[in-house]
Amino acid sequence: MSDVDDIVTSAVEAFGRIADPDELERVKAQFLGKAGSLTAMLKSLGKLAPEERREAGGRINAAKDRIEAALLQRREVLAGAALDARLAEEALDVTLPGRGQGLGGIHPVVRTWQRIESIFGSIGFDIADGPEIETDWYNFTALNNPENHPARSMQDTFYVEGADTAGLPLLLRTHTSPMQVRYACNHRPPIKVIAPGRTYRVDSDATHSPMFHQVEGLWIDENVSFADLKGVYTDFLRRFFETDELQVRFRPSYFPFTEPSAEIDMMFASGPQKGRWLEISGAGQVHPTVVRNFGLDPERYIGFAFGSGLERLSMLRYGIDDLRLFFDGDLSFLKQFR
Ligand code: FA5
Ligand code: MG
Repeated sequence: MSDVDDIVTSAVEAFGRIADPDELERVKAQFLGKAGSLTAMLKSLGKLAPEERREAGGRINAAKDRIEAALLQRREVLAGAALDARLAEEALDVTLPGRGQGLGGIHPVVRTWQRIESIFGSIGFDIADGPEIETDWYNFTALNNPENHPARSMQDTFYVEGADTAGLPLLLRTHTSPMQVRYACNHRPPIKVIAPGRTYRVDSDATHSPMFHQVEGLWIDENVSFADLKGVYTDFLRRFFETDELQVRFRPSYFPFTEPSAEIDMMFASGPQKGRWLEISGAGQVHPTVVRNFGLDPERYIGFAFGSGLERLSMLRYGIDDLRLFFDGDLSFLKQFR
């Protein structure tokens, strides 16, 4: 039965030529499978005489063991080669320079926000937060805006579809002043709070953005005067800009929710921006009608409010002339504030 040895030889040769593990399993079937050549030989044993059958069967089984051993060895060789290939492919060059960590930074407007919170926090102001989607009542009516005030128009205000539970129109707050009412209705005097946050108007140019930030300030007690407003705000500006070299001016103005009302202007007495008056904030003594809307008696309680633009403060602090830079997401601009 020399053909048994031939089968072993051709199996070993065939396995040795194969480089693909799947193909190896397919070729294995040609020898050891149900229709394989060795299996065919085992089946033909029945035709032999008993003596020959035992001897031939022994040889076939030995051949089967050798083929299986060859198969196993080839499997190991192929698995080793696959592993080597993968290791070579995924090899890391540990001598290459690293990519480095991109360190984030705090946005300049947020820096301003944080500075404002820490300065007012240090003189006893609470810090409050409120909704950016407001009702017509808090944004306008409670603040003594007449029904036909131009600020209520669609040209100035972003209205939101739908209405609040009382059927009142919803809008994106145009200023942080609604926080005066929200906070004062939930706290008893002395009321001393700032409310920084996002605000929205139909506005867009180098000094106006449709989304911007304001900080509201409110101080109400039995004897808070306009002189306190001047003192607190001037002190705030000196600390914010870290200089006493600035002048502050309260220019008469009009807001429905304050009486008297003022625009606060400031001017640097030195430095590159010296000599130019710049508007920073609206302010005034809270109107008696608004104090009544706080649920307080205006004969007893009095105080001031202000609303300042955070972009405006940031532009002055960092000497930036176009507010849109804050919102363009240009990293070469933003990285300067890291
Ligand atoms: C107000 O919004 C009043 N609520 C301020 C106020 C509060 C007055 C409390 C009295 C008492 P005004 O519309 O002037 O006022 O806005 C205040 C500041 O917000 C401006 O001085 C400016 O710095 C900033 N501001 C207004 N509109 C924009 C805009 N579109 N983009 C960037 N900043 C703006
Ligand atoms: Mg103004």
